[in-house]
Amino acid sequence: MTGPFPIPAALIERLRSAQRVAVLTGAGISAESGVPTFRDAQTGLWARYSPQELANAEAFRRNPRLVWEWYAWRQQIVRQAMPNPGHQALVIMEQRIATFTLITQNVDGLHRRAGSHQVLELHGNLFRSKCLAEDRPVEGDSEDNEVPPRCPRCGGLLRPDVVWFGEMLPAAVLHAAGQAATHAEVFFSIGTSAQVYPAADLPLQALAAGATVVEINPQPTPLSAVASFALHGAAGVVLPALIAQVWAEASPY
Ligand code: OAD
Repeated sequence: MTGPFPIPAALIERLRSAQRVAVLTGAGISAESGVPTFRDAQTGLWARYSPQELANAEAFRRNPRLVWEWYAWRQQIVRQAMPNPGHQALVIMEQRIATFTLITQNVDGLHRRAGSHQVLELHGNLFRSKCLAEDRPVEGDSEDNEVPPRCPRCGGLLRPDVVWFGEMLPAAVLHAAGQAATHAEVFFSIGTSAQVYPAADLPLQALAAGATVVEINPQPTPLSAVASFALHGAAGVVLPALIAQVWAEASPY
């Protein structure tokens, strides 16, 4: 084994021959870009803010300005962030694997900014808005600097196009993610606490369908005990090491 993080030989072999790979990412993959996670003690967003006050439709109806400004603050953090070596390693993986699907719970758009193409956004996108009344995505807004802005079609309030607590995930995206999970030979769960369903069910679906399930996370999660491989390290370290050891010619070292 070479590289700064040793990858098990059996996993290297499995990946070299794999035709179908699916990856689920969570907030942890963007942590090294400076985007806060949700559940990490001290630094996680939910240690500092209450989901009840900010991330649900009722909260938005009660105080739309507060919720909109909180999302505008998160947009600002992401605008200043850059994709990190973990995101970049997944771009290389997409180029190496015949059928590759990247499923993300993140709303930060950093996978696409890194250059990934096959991205399924389970929880929406921070940089898209939708009309609260019509429940349809909206391009642009009424240009009178109101906060929140108004729908250019019906004049109703715009809200971030993200999935809030108590809301359904976009059905077509979730279906595609389930298909990718159940058809994958290798399934990665990276930088997610594996606590939020239905996303947390995807690695379990992959496992039940016979996939090799690989977790990458510095901390153990409920998935660790059942995963085929649990690689305890930061995504920005483990993923480039994995790429280097599986596809030596693409080595960033
Ligand atoms: P969490 O904040 O629950 O979990 C982040 C995970 O990333 C933790 O398990 C950390 O140990 C791990 N982590 C931290 N730094 C890491 C690094 N450098 N490399 C790899 N892993 C690292 O975030 P999610 O699991 O993404 O939903 O949370 C799932 C959903 O809960 C989010 O999409 C959001 C939230 O409520 C909605 O907003 C709908």
